[in-house]
Amino acid sequence: MARRIFSGIQPSGQITLGNYLGALKQFVQLQSDPQSGQDLDPFYCIVDLHAITVPQDPKQLSGRILDLASLYLAVGLDPTRSTLFVQSDVSAHSELGWILQCVGYMGELSRMTQFKEKSEGKESILTGLFTYPALMAADILLYQTDIVPVGDDQKQHLELTRDLAERFNSRFGETFTIPEVMTLEQGARIMSLDDPSKKMSKSNPNPQSRVELLDTPDEIRKKISRAVTDSDREVRYDLAMKPAVSNLLVIYALTTGESVADVEARYEGKGYGDFKKELAEAVVAHLEPIQARFREVRASGEVQRVLQEGAQRAQGVAAQTLAQVKERMGLGVYRR
Ligand code: AMP
Ligand code: TRP
Repeated sequence: MARRIFSGIQPSGQITLGNYLGALKQFVQLQSDPQSGQDLDPFYCIVDLHAITVPQDPKQLSGRILDLASLYLAVGLDPTRSTLFVQSDVSAHSELGWILQCVGYMGELSRMTQFKEKSEGKESILTGLFTYPALMAADILLYQTDIVPVGDDQKQHLELTRDLAERFNSRFGETFTIPEVMTLEQGARIMSLDDPSKKMSKSNPNPQSRVELLDTPDEIRKKISRAVTDSDREVRYDLAMKPAVSNLLVIYALTTGESVADVEARYEGKGYGDFKKELAEAVVAHLEPIQARFREVRASGEVQRVLQEGAQRAQGVAAQTLAQVKERMGLGVYRR
C-alpha cells in the first residue's frame, strides 16, 4: 500500500524562505521517493481554518489562499501525484476537530509552546488559538497518515496528535493510523535574519527578519546585506558561537545544493562582505524561476481547477474516516 503523507501550511502571510527550505521543498521531494522505491500518496493542505485563529482580513485571506496554492504549484508540486486542497473545502476537518477537542485535555493543550508564544502579552486571545492543535490532529488523522513532514516547531503538535490518536484507539477501538513526524536534518529551523535566536516567521512584525518567496531581487539583496552577523570576521559554521553566520551558511547550502563544509571552505579567510553578496545572488537565482512560474499559474485558471479536484479527492478519504469515528462513538448509529 502507498504510504500516506500529509502536511499543511497556513495562508496567514507571505511564504518565507524558512517555509520553503523547511517544508515546501521537502513536500516536492516526497512526491517520489527514490530511496525506498515505495509508493507515496501525499496530501498537502492549505490550512485556512488555522489561519483564522488570529484575526484576518477577509479580502487579504482569500488572496493569500490562491497565492499559496499557486506557490505550491510553482515550486514543483505535481497535482497528478499529490492532492492539493484547501482545508475549509472539506468540512470533515471541523467536525473531527471538535470531536478531538472532546478527547484532549485542557492540561495538554496548555503545554503547547506555540500557543504560549502566540498568546504572550495579548489581551484578547481567540478560543481557536488554544484548541488549534486538536484541529491539526484532525487534519492528519482524517487521512490515516503515515508520515508528516514539518519543521522543528511542529514536533510538539505531532506528539499531541499521536497521543490523541492512541487515546481514541484505546477507548473506542482501532480507528486511526499513528503518524510519524519527519523533519529535515538541515533546514528544519531557518532563523530570523535580524535575530538568530528566533525562527524566521511570516508573522514577525519586522519584514527585514525574513526573505519572502515573492520578494523582488532588490529586496532580497537588501535584506541579506543587512542580516546580522556575529562578532569576528570568519565565515564558519558554529551554532553555539556563531548562530547568525551558521544560519546564513545553511541557507546558502540549501539553496545551492552544496554542503555547508564546501561553502565554508570556499569562504575561508574572506570576510562577510563577499559571502553575503554571493548568498543574495544564489537566493535570487534560485527564486527567479519559481517566481516566474508563480505569476503564470496565478494568472491562469489552473489553480482553481486543481483545488477543486483536490477537495473532491480529499472529501472522499476524509468522509470514510469520519463515518467510522462517529460510529465508534455512538453518533448517528440510530439511522441504521
Ligand atoms: P507555518 O508558516 O506556521 O504555516 O508553517 C508551515 C510549515 O513551514 C511548517 O511545517 C513549519 O514547521 C515550517 N516552517 C515555518 N517556519 C520555518 C522556519 N523558520 N524554518 C523551517 N521550517 C519552518
Ligand atoms: N500547525 C502547522 C503550522 O503552523 C500547520 C498545520 C496545520 C499542519 N495542520 C497541519 C502541518 C497538519 C502538518 C500537518 O505550521
